[in-house]
Amino acid sequence: MRKQIAAANWKMNLTYQQGEELLDSILKEEISLEKDQQVVFAVPFPYLIMAAEKLKGRKNYFGSAQNCSDKKSGAYTGEVSAEMLHSIHITHCVLGHSERREYFSEFNQALAHKAELCLEYNITPIFCCGEPLSIREVGAEEGFVEAQLKESLFHFSEDQIRKIVIAYEPIWAIGTGMTATTAQAQEMHAHIRFLLASKYSKNTADIIPILYGGSVKAGNAKELFSCPDVDGGLVGGASLVAADFCSIIRALK
Ligand code: 13P
Repeated sequence: MRKQIAAANWKMNLTYQQGEELLDSILKEEISLEKDQQVVFAVPFPYLIMAAEKLKGRKNYFGSAQNCSDKKSGAYTGEVSAEMLHSIHITHCVLGHSERREYFSEFNQALAHKAELCLEYNITPIFCCGEPLSIREVGAEEGFVEAQLKESLFHFSEDQIRKIVIAYEPIWAIGTGMTATTAQAQEMHAHIRFLLASKYSKNTADIIPILYGGSVKAGNAKELFSCPDVDGGLVGGASLVAADFCSIIRALK
């Protein structure tokens, strides 16, 4: 079975102490995971070592960065490289979140470099894609997401693409309380899997986890995750409340 993943994206929220408290409250629940289930915490850079320490020895729990540089190393003040993340034992990195695309001008080509560097340092990219409302309103969402995948990921070999996690996050559903319907989520996830199968193979498409993101809550996670092509969620707001995120973890297939 494909991996089923509940991923928390804290974004730029919580102080260090609040972050510690939140992680402690979630971990004390000792939610036991099936072999193919994973929980990922994408925390701000200064909290990564703390998160990695707390998650050490917890099977199938991982810390993640929310971004990394598209440059390998050197004179890039303020940037954090994939190699640096690797050196502190971070195993995952969110790439191409729509907030980074919109506010920090991240484009498909730079994201391709980021994904390459992550793979070079054994870091699993959680690659985000998804369309704005204006694109969905004219029915062009499938082509929009297809271009994002093609331009950032489809140069990878079959071995490499198998190491990537995809997160479909329709921008109109992020932080708005406007969740995609299960039909909308399933339709796009199935389309992404179809694209992967066409470019690579059905076998490969079948093992790549595709997470849904956009107003996932304790109350809707089970229904969303029950879609055959939805393999968990990338969760913003609801991942900041211990009880809610625990319910979302428990909703994994
Ligand atoms: P919300 O869950 O707050 O809508 O955010 C989704 C998201 O952007 C996760 O990366």
